Amino acid sequence: MTSTPREPTVLSATTVADAIDAPEAASPGAPWTPVPLLRASGLVKRFGAVEALAGATIEVHTHEVVAIVGDNAAGKSTFAKIVAGVLQPDGGLLELAGEPVSIPSPSAARDLGIATVFQDLAVAGNLDVTANLFLGREQRIAGTPLLHEGEMELAARKLLHQLGARIPSVRTRVADLSKGQQQSVAIARTLLGQPRLVVLDEPTASLSVAATAEVLTHIERLRDLGLGVVLISHNLNDVRAIADWIVVLRHGRNNGTFRGSSATNEELIAAITGATRADGHLEAYRG
Ligand SMILES: Nc1ncnc2c1ncn2[C@@H]1O[C@H](COP(=O)(O)OP(=O)(O)OP(=O)(O)O)[C@@H](O)[C@H]1O
Ligand SMILES: [Mg+2]
Repeated sequence: MTSTPREPTVLSATTVADAIDAPEAASPGAPWTPVPLLRASGLVKRFGAVEALAGATIEVHTHEVVAIVGDNAAGKSTFAKIVAGVLQPDGGLLELAGEPVSIPSPSAARDLGIATVFQDLAVAGNLDVTANLFLGREQRIAGTPLLHEGEMELAARKLLHQLGARIPSVRTRVADLSKGQQQSVAIARTLLGQPRLVVLDEPTASLSVAATAEVLTHIERLRDLGLGVVLISHNLNDVRAIADWIVVLRHGRNNGTFRGSSATNEELIAAITGATRADGHLEAYRG
């Protein structure tokens, strides 16, 4: 497998806020194509005797939300970590826009335009919203070590606005925000890297009904921006509300693919628990 990083986009301190304004910056590769943005086929991952993924195949296009559902230990987070470059698969093929790729590290994933929000949310509670968004990507005043605070604040406001996030001030300490608002910050942070694909692992777990609705709005915005979104969730109502496609994993294998708009909780539960069997992949269902 070869790595084919896309052209890195360099944002200077004075242009970051403007770049966020430009639709093409937020939706690189936005046009819909028949080739999936990401296709992971026959993925295998073993941890000793445990086969976390045993041949799972998942694909997602631009402008599309594909949900992955499945019981505990079905392999969902393992899939997210492989796409994020955190884990290396033992078998299978990863293709991005039709090109085979390897994703040897999180920075390689970033270079390929893949952003991930992990199940155990990583935000720095002691830092404010702006500092969290720019953590590791701080904008500095040209030729000085000084942070370009004004520019970062402006960009932070624009990013949150783009997602429809309601956060009182970009200078609020993240620890003082609700869990839902913290999730908004984590999702907004992915946009700074101008991704093509965003993978969200259980973004609504342990959120209130109102906060969940807000996170679902963010996911809709990501799709509207032209990104491909993989949404991993236990909440069948959430995924039915928002996903274009729902892929069921069971014991690391595909066990059913459903249209989000027509799937019922009963048939999803039957697939998740193994009461029904179906190993067809999403590409076979697209009409
Ligand atoms: N680093 C690891 N070392 C050993 N086993 C692991 C590791 N990561 C995952 N596993 C195992 O792989 C299997 C799949 O785990 P994974 O976290 O992908 O499941 P999941 O579908 O995300 O579950 P959940 O719904 O509980 O988050 C489980 O049996 C888990 O214990
Ligand atoms: Mg998980």
